[in-house]
Amino acid sequence: MRKPMIAGNWKMHKDNREALELVEDLTGRVKDIVDVEIVVCPPFTALSDVSRFLEETGSGIKLGAQNVFPEPQGAFTGEISPPMLKAVAAEYVIVGHSERREIMGESDGFIARKLRAVMDAGMVPILCVGETLEERERGEATSKVEGQLQADLAPLNEDEIAGIIIAYEPIWAIGTGKTATPQDAQDMTSFIRGNIAGEYGDDIAAGLRVLYGGSVKPGNIADLMAMEDIDGALVGGASLKAEDFAAIASFRA
Ligand code: PGA
Repeated sequence: MRKPMIAGNWKMHKDNREALELVEDLTGRVKDIVDVEIVVCPPFTALSDVSRFLEETGSGIKLGAQNVFPEPQGAFTGEISPPMLKAVAAEYVIVGHSERREIMGESDGFIARKLRAVMDAGMVPILCVGETLEERERGEATSKVEGQLQADLAPLNEDEIAGIIIAYEPIWAIGTGKTATPQDAQDMTSFIRGNIAGEYGDDIAAGLRVLYGGSVKPGNIADLMAMEDIDGALVGGASLKAEDFAAIASFRA
């Protein structure tokens, strides 16, 4: 069975003191949830403190990073390597978020290198894919996502694909308050699973966790999670309030 995952992407919010306050508040609220994997992805400057807090308190919350550079070390001013993230006990790394693709100009080729580097360092990538509103209106949503999957996953072998997480994040739904309908989200997550089945086989596709992201809130999570191919959510804005994020992680309650 695919264990549901609720992951919070804090983006460029919370200095390390605020991050500690948030994770402390959250830990108290989610301590009884055992059947959902809960992940927080603070900014780089807060990773170390949040990591120490999670370890010391025995909190079941897991740690993820929002980005990485695809080399283990070197003259890459301002960048952070996979081993550096591993050293602060990050288990997950968001790769290819649409904000990085669109604002930082990251290409599929660069994202593919990041996936390779994250796997090599022994962490799990959360690969984000998704279309713009214009692409959706032109009827190109599935071809966009298919192209991203093909290019981004190229360096990974079948065994490795089985261990990654894919997040479908329609760009028009991120931070806009517009959520894809549960059926739209189901259609694309099912398309993603079908695409993986075609490339790597049914078994791998059946075990792959596919998340939905884009304006997920306490009020819409249950309907999204009721969909067959949606295994969890990548949550931006609503992950910044412990109460809301805990309510999302309690979607079964
Ligand atoms: P949002 O962001 O929940 O604020 O729409 C989701 C994301 O970008 O991962």
